Amino acid sequence: MAHRITVLPGDGIGPEVTTAARRVLDASGAPLEWEVADLRAGPSSAPMLSEEAVASIGRNRVALKGPTATPLAGRSRSLNLELRRRLGLYAQVRPARTLAAPGPFGEVDLVVIRETTEDLYAGVELARGTDAAGRLIELLAAEGLPAIRPDSGLSIKPQSEAAARRILCFAFDYARSHGRRRVTAVHKATVMWSTDGLFLEVAREVAAEQPDVELDDIAVDTLALTLVRRPQSLDVLVMGNLYGDIVSDLAAGLIGGLGIAPGANFGREAAVFEPVHGSAPRHAGRDTANPLAMILSGVLLLRHLGEAEAAARIEEAVAAVLAAGEAVPADLLLYRGGTPAGTRRVADAVARRLERL
Ligand code: IPM
Ligand code: MN
Repeated sequence: MAHRITVLPGDGIGPEVTTAARRVLDASGAPLEWEVADLRAGPSSAPMLSEEAVASIGRNRVALKGPTATPLAGRSRSLNLELRRRLGLYAQVRPARTLAAPGPFGEVDLVVIRETTEDLYAGVELARGTDAAGRLIELLAAEGLPAIRPDSGLSIKPQSEAAARRILCFAFDYARSHGRRRVTAVHKATVMWSTDGLFLEVAREVAAEQPDVELDDIAVDTLALTLVRRPQSLDVLVMGNLYGDIVSDLAAGLIGGLGIAPGANFGREAAVFEPVHGSAPRHAGRDTANPLAMILSGVLLLRHLGEAEAAARIEEAVAAVLAAGEAVPADLLLYRGGTPAGTRRVADAVARRLERL
């Protein structure tokens, strides 16, 4: 029986790169059926999450999602975040593994696991000058906490024990099922002891119950340095929402950039596969965007569906196309130069290789 997958083409370069990914996934021979849905409903000035898209993912339990634009300083929540919230997607997995010839950072093979329901992304935003901000500032002063200037805006960072435990258990399970040895908890517990300190405490409790996987921890600033100095020393990294957002872009930079960095979001009921990159509106409609991050997100999707063989063949085809210099997207030529290949050419080259494998 074919797997039914919801496709959300998204904005900017999203439609081009999702088309490219579908072409390659279809060429892999895995039995797939696509159900296209628009993530956005309502007017573009006040977009809302489309119920049709949510229902489609609810039915199929798996989606391939193109990047969706989030307006800067819009006061509404990003549709990306809204989708994660509605579907209960709490764990994001962003592997960073060298596929082509290693760049200046050498062979990299690490995984960023990011909690996606809490932290500074929780949406607890109190705008400067509002009653709520004023009342909270007064309450905190009455508790004897350091004074906050009255003209402050506040973004609150919640960290619950339950969400920490859930993501840490996820990270340990992930490590075990992917043949990895060590989970590193990322924090700044010396400063934010009530949130990051709690995260670290729970990490140690979870690790005590699962001695087959090793736990260590690292401060997020030290991690930034280690990522560029000795990325080979890192294995599975687990962290909160904001650190995960930043670190996953940095990790992408180690393996050739956002153009080649895939990702996945998991909840209890559904999984949504999307690249780390955004919608890159300046490149939209020009057939220049690198489709590999989207194609490799499709590889993660195939593994999730149990189509491990098709997944491995696509990875092999991508690596072969890059190694032969057959169709290399512009962003991957940074360290070596050459003639860039456009979106469709890259997808065609990978699909043709697949047919020969
Ligand atoms: C990502 C994106 C999103 C995030 C934005 C679009 C809200 O940067 O998926 O990494 O911050 O999670
Ligand atoms: Mn991001």
